[in-house]
Amino acid sequence: MRTIWTVLSFSLGIALIVCAAFSNRCIYRARPLIQPRSVYIETCATCHSPDGPASNLQPQTLTRDEWRDFFDNGVHTGERLTDFVDDGDLKIIETYCIENARPSSE
Ligand code: HEC
Repeated sequence: MRTIWTVLSFSLGIALIVCAAFSNRCIYRARPLIQPRSVYIETCATCHSPDGPASNLQPQTLTRDEWRDFFDNGVHTGERLTDFVDDGDLKIIETYCIENARPSSE
């Protein structure tokens, strides 16, 4: 009977260690998958860059409030943002722009 418990708790210990190591790995690997900057560059900087057809707009160009207004309004050059950006990407871009906005005190 004792042997069974020893074996069981030992296996459980091993399983826990493996789980911990594995989930750490997953978290570690999940991070680089979403790179807000790349989403912005691929979706917005195609036009909004020094060589692009639109103003050289970066998150730092506008203040947090200006970005909030822009995304709340949701209209871009007469078109709805949701018409050319999928919802998931839009949320990532919104967060990225607001977090990296120009400080409003400047
Ligand atoms: C197809 C080209 C194109 C793409 C893609 C594009 N824009 Fe624009 N955007 C324009 C043009 C053209 C204007 C109007 C003139 C300007 O600001 O250059 C504009 C204007 C804006 C303005 C207003 C600028 C101001 O001075 O008030 C904001 C903010 C903006 N875009 C954000 C974005 C964001 C965020 C994305 C990505 C989700 C994006 N744009 C994607 C072409 C584009």
